[in-house]
Amino acid sequence: MKSFRTEAASSGWPVRRGVRIESVEPYSLAGELCQLTPFEPADTERVFDYCQDPEIQRWTPLPVPYRIQDAAVFTTVTTQKGWGGDITEHERIWAIRIQGEDGKPYLAGSVGLKPNPPGKSVELGYLVAAACRGRGLATDAVNPAVAHALGDLGMRRVLWQAVVGNWPSRRLAVRCGFTVEGTVRSQLVMRGQAFDGWVATIIADDLSKQEGYFKADGGVRLWD
Ligand SMILES: CC(C)(COP(=O)(O)OP(=O)(O)OC[C@H]1O[C@@H](n2cnc3c(N)ncnc32)[C@H](O)[C@@H]1OP(=O)(O)O)[C@@H](O)C(=O)NCCC(=O)NCCS
Repeated sequence: MKSFRTEAASSGWPVRRGVRIESVEPYSLAGELCQLTPFEPADTERVFDYCQDPEIQRWTPLPVPYRIQDAAVFTTVTTQKGWGGDITEHERIWAIRIQGEDGKPYLAGSVGLKPNPPGKSVELGYLVAAACRGRGLATDAVNPAVAHALGDLGMRRVLWQAVVGNWPSRRLAVRCGFTVEGTVRSQLVMRGQAFDGWVATIIADDLSKQEGYFKADGGVRLWD
């Protein structure tokens, strides 16, 4: 089993607010059904396509209407910035890729970890393209992402939040070991409007009780 790689960018050490932050070489994680790999500019059109789905637009803070420029910013700026430094300050987002009918990797969604609050806690986010739902894909992507956060990245907690009523997402979080803490009023702001939110958490102790991804020796499997 390999551990994930962390390397300085070839351009040297970026400096933010006078502190040296190590850049991270983009890396991948693996589930049973999918591979979690970095986004690429070539993913723009596919991201644009699946983000037209009304469920994605209803439950996530994407701009609506979602334009091809929004997808381009996501694949070339937002997702790339995440590799610019430590997880305590940078959001890390992976593409969920499955094997397409032609045998090539097919982009089916995304899963990400962002500092919240910055320090030893990250918030989990995810979406799966409508055509790829209901076959365990999100479950298969969330498990290694959470194990990676609580294992390799040394986070003390992963936070999950969803707009009240998003039952598919809530069932998924519980299936992946999260404990629902409750409802927080006016917790999530999407497109300028505040919504009540469900909040759930998972900590390393919870994960160690589960069979599967989180092994006694730490890390998760990587896909090369
Ligand atoms: C929430 C979301 C990511 C779930 O994606 P998904 O890939 O369909 O999730 P899964 O397939 O892992 O689980 C969904 C269902 O498939 C079932 N399923 C079918 N085959 C399965 C398998 N082999 N393994 C696990 N679950 C399986 C699950 O039991 C689950 O049933 P449920 O409806 O009772 O929960 C997806 O609906 C989505 O993208 N929604 C819009 C965006 C969104 O809400 N994002 C989250 C914001 S908080």
